[in-house]
Order: sequence, then structure tokens, then C-alpha cells
Amino acid sequence: MLEVSEDIEKAAYFIQKGKLVLFPTETVYGLGASSWNRNSCLKIYEVKKRPKDNPFIIHVGRVEDIFELGIINPKYEAFIYKFSPGPISFIVEKRKENLFSSNLPTIGIRVPSIFKIQDFLKLAGPVSAPSANLSGKPSITKREYLFETFQNTVDFLLLGEEPEIGIESTVIDISKDIPILLRPGKISSEEIKKILPDLQVISKKFLTPMSPGIKYKHYAPDCLVKWYEGEKLSILENSYLGFSNIPSAYSIQVKDNLEYMKNLYSFFIESDKRKVKVAYCEKPIPDFFSESLINRIEKAILK
Ligand code: TXA
Ligand code: MG
Repeated sequence: MLEVSEDIEKAAYFIQKGKLVLFPTETVYGLGASSWNRNSCLKIYEVKKRPKDNPFIIHVGRVEDIFELGIINPKYEAFIYKFSPGPISFIVEKRKENLFSSNLPTIGIRVPSIFKIQDFLKLAGPVSAPSANLSGKPSITKREYLFETFQNTVDFLLLGEEPEIGIESTVIDISKDIPILLRPGKISSEEIKKILPDLQVISKKFLTPMSPGIKYKHYAPDCLVKWYEGEKLSILENSYLGFSNIPSAYSIQVKDNLEYMKNLYSFFIESDKRKVKVAYCEKPIPDFFSESLINRIEKAILK
């Protein structure tokens, strides 16, 4: 039974007792367990029905914790401080052997930007947390969807601000001399290149062995997803997300890419609730944020 509370001390107590805790971050909701507790981390795989070789991101409350838990090449120190706390996860070599990381020599680690969540993490210790969704389904960005999915399988929901960004963090591998973008996010490759001009953005087909998560189906609703190209939509069978006012079974009109990002996953979830056949997404406006939006929508189209 899911206990719901505002209390960070209680949430930290649950983590330390080996329980699973749902919590908001600025990107999407996370489903967390203590990174020191292998059995609790393994429970997350069961609850999410997640393939066992796909590692979690470790969430910590202070930027200094990244340096305590990971071995950081000095080349990347200023870069980490520039973007953290924030919606970015770093793949680094792990310093502490008993940190849970599904048998990899590296860990993914990040500091979420919501202050209350930082305080929770300072009390709880490192918390391993994938996005809070069933494997393959869209990530959850609104509290109401958590109950439908986790009411009977998770112990605790820490209440806090709802995710503001709406898609998962940027993931960058800085465990080697050449930095590699593994997953685009609100922090774009253009922005990163200003600080790390040698950033490699590898095409999808080469990413598979480098970030286990990339080879799995992702972020996809049950309905088909297609790019909107001006077709006439059915009021029964289609939904629409984009910049225009297009009537359909479920339409969201946004003013820019950031609003698009914030609404994308709830659009997918609501489209499935209405049992639409095809959810249409308009092409994002080309800017810093279009890269990650196109990445998520293409994954849903190709599911
Ligand atoms: O915004 C986010 O990052 C959210 C919130 C909850 O923080 N978390 C999230 O976690 O999206 P998850 O597990 O859904 O995605 C983590 C991604 C996966 O693609 C995983 O394969 C990759 O990070 N990853 C984690 N550790 C890794 C490692 N050591 N090496 C390569 N990839 C790693
Ligand atoms: Mg995920």
C-alpha cells in the first residue's frame, strides 16, 4: 500500500529500511531505492518489469557527492559544476565498489535541482532511481498517474513540486577522454559543446553497447505515434500535440518547444486512456530543445 507524505525524513527512513520511494525531480518522477542496498535495487527491476542489464541513475543531494562516489577526470570538473544541480546525468567510473550499478565499472549520477529533493537525498544517502514508469511506457510527469501504476507495488510517495521539464535528463559519458552524449535532454548537445567542443554525438546504431537503456523500447504509448503532416484528424481515433488548434479526441496546443516537452508524456498517456489509434505530433520548431524532443518522439514512432 502506497503511503503518501510531504515528509522528507520519513521518506529517507523508508529508503534506509530498504523500501522503494517515488519522488519528483525537475525532469520526471523517479522510483528510488538505496544505492547501497542491492536487494532493494533489484526490487525496482521487478516493480518496473525492467530488463536486468539496464542500470539506474544514482541521485545525490550535493555536487560534491558526485566526486565522492565517482572518479572524475579533472578535464570535466568545471563542466560538472556548470550544469549541476540540473537535468543532466554523468557516466563516470565508480569509486565505491559496493554501489549498486548492475555489474558495470561505471555509474550514472546526477543532482536534481529541486531543493526539497536535494534535502531528502542528503538524508537518504545515494538513491538509485530510474524513471517511475513501467518499462517501455512513457515516463510519468504527473502525480495522478503514479497511483494507477504503483498503488500496490511501492511503499512511499514523497510529495513535492511536479516535474517542470517533462523529459528525462541529458546523459553524457565522461568516463573517458572524449565525452559522449548518450541521451539528449533539455541540456542540448549545442550547449554542452560550448564547454566541451570535442563532444561526440553518436548515431543511434552505435549507441547500443554503450548505454544499455538505449537498446530497449522506450517512452512509447500503446497507440501508434506519427508525425503530423496536415492530415484531417478523426475526433474518435486520433489525438494531436502541436502548435496549432486542431480538434481531435485529445488535442494539446503548445506555444513553444519547452511547453511541448512538458506535455509530451502526459499526451501519450491521455491518448492511450482515450484508446485513440494514432497520436499525431507536430514537428518541433528547430531550436536547442528540438533535438531531445525529436529523439523521444522518434523512439515512440519506432517502438
Ligand atoms: O531524468 C532522469 O534521468 C530520470 C529521473 C528520475 O532522474 N531518470 C531516468 O532514469 O530517466 P532511467 O533509468 O529511465 O534512464 C537512465 C539511463 C538509461 O538509458 C541507462 O541505460 C543509462 O541512463 N545509464 C545508467 N547508468 C549507466 C552506465 N553506467 N553506463 C551507461 N548508461 C547508463
Ligand atoms: Mg526510463
